[in-house]
Amino acid sequence: MTLRLPLSTLMTRAQAVKTATVGNRVYLRGLIEFSNRCRKNCYYCGIRNGNRTIGRYELTDEEVLHAVDFAWRNRYGSIVLQSGERQSAHFTARITRLLQQIKRHTQGEIGITLSCGEQSADVYRRWFEAGAHRYLLRIETSSPALYAKIHPRNPTHDFDTRLAALHHLKTIGYRTGTGVMIGLPFQTIDDMENDLRFFQQMNIDMIGMGPYIEHRDTPLYRYRDLLLPPAQRLELALKMVAALRLLMPHINIAATTALQTLHPAGREQALRAGANVFMPNITPMKYRNDYRLYDNKPCLHDAPSLCNDCTATRIQNAGDKIAYGEWGDRCNFEL
Ligand code: 5AD
Ligand code: SF4
Ligand code: FES
Repeated sequence: MTLRLPLSTLMTRAQAVKTATVGNRVYLRGLIEFSNRCRKNCYYCGIRNGNRTIGRYELTDEEVLHAVDFAWRNRYGSIVLQSGERQSAHFTARITRLLQQIKRHTQGEIGITLSCGEQSADVYRRWFEAGAHRYLLRIETSSPALYAKIHPRNPTHDFDTRLAALHHLKTIGYRTGTGVMIGLPFQTIDDMENDLRFFQQMNIDMIGMGPYIEHRDTPLYRYRDLLLPPAQRLELALKMVAALRLLMPHINIAATTALQTLHPAGREQALRAGANVFMPNITPMKYRNDYRLYDNKPCLHDAPSLCNDCTATRIQNAGDKIAYGEWGDRCNFEL
């Protein structure tokens, strides 16, 4: 029933819980969108395989290491290596090599989160052994019926396979992150409350969830008339963040970029609603335009140094402090 409470009530409660548990400290994770190649065709996503209107790219090792170095020098506790989903021996080997290089370059100091989609348990294990200790794999929605509506119906887009991948990650020992989109066409308030219960049942370590935002070159665009107007969608997303902080007081919750598309201060508001993780975009400028998951994605024209300064201001505006140089894992004794 929580999502039916007024936003202000939820935010006041969540803010108090946040201060008492994770504190007013925000962890930084430098986001490197290292490739937009993807084997999938999710109906909502701008970099889906079927979108021929974008150029496909992949950062070189040097470009990745340069971005990592930027994060390290600016005392970000960790980085997130994110890409579309690819499954090949070549891809596995490349990520493994990159992980080892990053560990060496930063003398093991920087924490590494991977977000490269569904892989076999064996691949996940190899990457874990090479130095990745966190993995983000959004379930997108915990409702199998809704999942089937927003993905093509074939074995490559199978809800149970995705769920199994999340379980593998946990078994291997990753700090596991997941998340959903909020305000999807056909999605109900009950669906979203079930999403929150799903996170709790899975005992998830971190959550990145944000509003669904339409993209003109995707199949779901035709249902845009079913969407809540931006202000209400933002409100719902903030309610989800606050409700989750109340439900799982100690976990990491990200103030996601999509919130900023709906409102310039969307991410600060998420911090006030209980989020404690911020992911400044440190992808080299020339690639950003091609990693457009949705229309009006922010930071497309802002250099890493600009996002860096902007992040500091936003966190300050929300009344929080940056926890420089910390990985920011959920502590086991708090579980
Ligand atoms: N609106 C909001 N989020 C999106 N994602 C993909 N497409 C969209 C969209 N149109 C999110 C998915 C994915 C993450 C990388 O980006 O949740 O897991
Ligand atoms: Fe690929 Fe992820 Fe986009 Fe789906 S949401 S098309 S898996 S990048
Ligand atoms: Fe990129 Fe503000 S975080 S410009």
